[in-house]
Amino acid sequence: MAEKIVLAYSGGLDTSVAIKWLAERYSAEIIALTLDVGGSRALERARQRALKAGASQALVVDAKDQFAKEYVWPALQSGAIYEGEYPLATALARPLIVWHQVKVALEVGAFAVAHGCTGKGNDQVRFDVNTAALAPHLKIIAPAREWGMSREQEIEYAKSHGVPLELGTRSSYSVDENLWGRSIEAGDLEDPWREPPEEAFAWTRPVKDAPEEPRYVEITFRQGIPVALDGEEMPGVLLIERLHQWAGEHGVGRVDHIENRLVGIKSREVYEAPAALVLHKAHKALEAMTLSKDQARMKERVAQEYADVVYNGLWFTQHRQDLDAYVQSTQRHVSGTVRVRLHKGAATVVGRRSDEALYQYQLATYDKADQFDHKASEGFIAIYGLPVRTQARIQGREGKGPGQRG
Ligand code: ARG
Repeated sequence: MAEKIVLAYSGGLDTSVAIKWLAERYSAEIIALTLDVGGSRALERARQRALKAGASQALVVDAKDQFAKEYVWPALQSGAIYEGEYPLATALARPLIVWHQVKVALEVGAFAVAHGCTGKGNDQVRFDVNTAALAPHLKIIAPAREWGMSREQEIEYAKSHGVPLELGTRSSYSVDENLWGRSIEAGDLEDPWREPPEEAFAWTRPVKDAPEEPRYVEITFRQGIPVALDGEEMPGVLLIERLHQWAGEHGVGRVDHIENRLVGIKSREVYEAPAALVLHKAHKALEAMTLSKDQARMKERVAQEYADVVYNGLWFTQHRQDLDAYVQSTQRHVSGTVRVRLHKGAATVVGRRSDEALYQYQLATYDKADQFDHKASEGFIAIYGLPVRTQARIQGREGKGPGQRG
């Protein structure tokens, strides 16, 4: 019986050619695994193409729910947005793909797993390092990193080896899509001076075509997880898909990011992530109501660390588990509803309420309901300002000004 390799199969040219290339080079049986993590890929077509390319088995696994629950929600709760711009859609799905790939590899007794990443991107790191974390004994093969074929050579290879070519026009961009967002790179986007052309986008309308009238949406969170839109409870996947549509219609969700890859390259990537952008904003607004100042500040630091961990391929690490434990602990009281206005490319938080809010009207108000003890401030300021007053008296003020000594 031939040895087995489990290939993470996207349905594109690279991974289709990889099926044949791997089968020949390793005299192995290739099991193509395609994950449904949302987005609009034609999965049945991909499955058929894998079989035609010579895979012995082509599996499609629906992992949308798992993606939302185990990857997207924790990342949202943590506040992770890479370099303040990228909500990490592609980066979050990679460890999930690896998880399923390793599961299948162990079930069928494969000696190796393979993926179609090139040697320039972050994704190769995410595949390789996450695989190492889950199954350190498995061999990892990255054909596109090894074979040195140009796109034209790949097409030649496909033709001469009976790998079916996709008919129809292929966009000049490299696109990766899932439930949490769409990543678009290459082609004319490689000129950072050039405004991204409209055809790069698929989920969001240009602002000029967005409706004149705003749309308001109320997002309800329970312990940091969104559970309802406009009061209607729904499963996470549906909630994200609905928000994509609503926000996308109003031109919300586009990002144009010059990003620092883990492999040292600066690259220009364009993203469409309407739901992610709206949910991160709303979640943060609710935290502003329910977390103490210290918690909120510490969380900002953790958010950055969490984003790096996701981006840098370190999902299956104890470090991420530790960060998660902290983040989960902070979410105990992050429950309530946030009202967001979607209008002409902007998502703006315009209202928030929570039964567990630390915002207290009687403390904040300037009218007669005020319960704050104004007199107590005197003593507080006397002690708080004591070291400043002391230093000024003994050593003089810094700089020039009234009361300056010498
Ligand atoms: N730059 C993003 C990341 O490193 C996305 C990479 C994949 N992008 C693509 N258009 N294929 O996570």
